[in-house]
Amino acid sequence: MVMTCFSCFFGEQGDSSARRTREIDGVLSVLQNVKLYSYKELRIATENFSPANKVGQGGFGFVYKAKLKDGTVAAIKVLSAESKQGVQEFLTEINVIANIQHDNLVKLYGCCVEESHRILVYGYLENNSLAQIFLGHSSIQFGWHTRRRICIDVARGLAFLHEEVQPHIIHRDIKASNVLLDKDLRAKISDFGLAKLIPGSMTHISTRVAGTAGYLAPEYAIRGQVTRKADIYSFGVLLLEIVSGRSNTNRRLPEKDQYLLERAWYLYERGGLAELVDSSLNDDLNLDEACKFIKIALLCTQDMPKIRPTMSTVVEMLSGDKDVNDMTVSKPGLLSEFMGLKGGGDEKDKVNTKYSSDAVFVDSGKTSSSGMDTSIATMTFNSIYDRSN
Ligand SMILES: Nc1ncnc2c1ncn2[C@@H]1O[C@H](COP(=O)(O)OP(=O)(O)OP(=O)(O)O)[C@@H](O)[C@H]1O
Ligand SMILES: [Mg+2]
Repeated sequence: MVMTCFSCFFGEQGDSSARRTREIDGVLSVLQNVKLYSYKELRIATENFSPANKVGQGGFGFVYKAKLKDGTVAAIKVLSAESKQGVQEFLTEINVIANIQHDNLVKLYGCCVEESHRILVYGYLENNSLAQIFLGHSSIQFGWHTRRRICIDVARGLAFLHEEVQPHIIHRDIKASNVLLDKDLRAKISDFGLAKLIPGSMTHISTRVAGTAGYLAPEYAIRGQVTRKADIYSFGVLLLEIVSGRSNTNRRLPEKDQYLLERAWYLYERGGLAELVDSSLNDDLNLDEACKFIKIALLCTQDMPKIRPTMSTVVEMLSGDKDVNDMTVSKPGLLSEFMGLKGGGDEKDKVNTKYSSDAVFVDSGKTSSSGMDTSIATMTFNSIYDRSN
């Protein structure tokens, strides 16, 4: 059902307003399960976007906790003002996202598109993001059973996006802060659909890179090839973080320990994976299972995308329905090596990389991939919020 507040679109008067209304009419007729909120309603729900209600800030803008007029508690993501995307395109995308529903995906209730405002309204998750595991000042105890369940929850959510949604969705920014936890510490993936949606027939063409350094598969960061396998790589990095209780990169550690994936591979080759498991885990730790999870993470991050398992296979492996004992793992793809940061890099693969906060922007120039252009990576809402059809 389309629930609408028509007046919220009338930011302008005259001909352009009439044309815009006709355009919006077209989109509204296809909207399903999307609630449209007025700016005023969201302003009231957040007590005038009060800093006290601010729960976070990301690359897109601020996130507020809000109490909607029907009593529902929501998370309101106010997209930054640079968003120039038209109402029509915006609503079309929102419609797609709002109709993707799964226990392990954060629910999008609707949005506000009044005048230049672009605000997303999501279900609120009480226990913040998974990133808190690594920050060490959380009061929550993330024991092994909780972590194990979180890993499987995330894998299920991603398998759903990859294998059940048609056309499938590549998340493109799987990372700890995009995994949110509800009151029972069940995990849900957030921000899916904010990246490009790829039709099933186009399996490895991308126009832009949108992701976070440390989680990026080399083939995606360097050549802009976005496939489900790039998400699976990021999932592998996340899995390592959950089992080890540390973030993928920590420059304060001795050099040999700074990059988690490199360290995992080093220990795997020497039969010492147990060393990577979070030392704060004790009571309910199942060390064999934790080491198995690290091995699965290494399978997900193998250099060659083709041999990384699919997410449904990963779910089977994590939940014990598929044995990984006899599987051989090949060397992970390490962006630092590709980039020549650690020596041994090939000139032709050198790219111009800029870091801005924790997002990586790779300008691979104009290269051709299966006859289509890849171009400069940007991270504005507009740029990664388009859909390729
Ligand atoms: N649905 C939600 N419920 C509760 N808290 C949320 C919700 N969505 C976001 N947050 C909080 O807001 C923070 C910022 O989220 P946001 O997605 O804007 O940024 P990010 O994930 O940290 O980075 P990026 O912009 O790169 O995705 C999250 O880390 C989380 O703490
Ligand atoms: Mg996020």
